[in-house]
Amino acid sequence: MERSPRPLPCRTDIPVCPILKAYVSQIKKTKDTNVWPTFMIIGIVAVDQNGAIGKGGKLPWHYSADMKFFKETTTGHACVMGYKTWLTLKRPLPNRLNIVLSRQSEIEAQESVVVMRSVESVLNLAKDSERDLFVIGGEQVYRAFLAHIDRWLVTEVPLTIDGADTFVPADYLDGFTSIGVQQLEENLIVRTYERTPSSSRT
Ligand SMILES: NC(=O)c1ccc[n+]([C@@H]2O[C@H](COP(=O)([O-])OP(=O)(O)OC[C@H]3O[C@@H](n4cnc5c(N)ncnc54)[C@H](OP(=O)(O)O)[C@@H]3O)[C@@H](O)[C@H]2O)c1
Repeated sequence: MERSPRPLPCRTDIPVCPILKAYVSQIKKTKDTNVWPTFMIIGIVAVDQNGAIGKGGKLPWHYSADMKFFKETTTGHACVMGYKTWLTLKRPLPNRLNIVLSRQSEIEAQESVVVMRSVESVLNLAKDSERDLFVIGGEQVYRAFLAHIDRWLVTEVPLTIDGADTFVPADYLDGFTSIGVQQLEENLIVRTYERTPSSSRT
């Protein structure tokens, strides 16, 4: 779907909640994605050897195995992203509720996309959903949700990107314990980290 050069007024937080809930139930019916036992807030990120995640507003690598992992993991759930990350997408992520966090930007109205103006609005929506909330970046959004994330899925990219300009927060894994590792392809692994009980969600 083409983006309009003159965006229509965006959908905003509270008035569309019933629509969003209906959408979430609809994707729930179309795919069994019972990945986690209960609602969770999950950070999903690919990082280089120095914690870099982006350069010049783009992802500085392309790993099809990681894209596949991202798609399979997040399908059927809600994904929250910053406005700059939204701009990197050609279209909304299919079969997911796309929540775009922005203080001021407008996005054309379209199914499965909602603009929200604050972290609290996103958390309010997510807590009433039976689906998980994936925090998909970029840097500002990882920072904004850091205190709320229960689990991290971290793809370790075997590169060091010169001139990278966006990073995961240096302390993002403080209070988390590694609980598993999955190999996507040679030299590309995903580690799962879970918040330790003594470091509970705020
Ligand atoms: N490696 C990975 O896994 C990964 C994943 C995602 C993205 N990335 C990369 O990360 C880079 C983008 O990261 P970024 O930090 O520059 O941008 P970003 O987090 O994607 O978006 C920043 C924008 O989000 C909005 N925003 C941020 N915090 C907010 C808050 N608390 N409340 C309301 N709105 C808020 C603001 O939009 P407005 O200005 O419209 O108000 C802000 O300008 C790109 O290079 C992208 O490719 C990498």
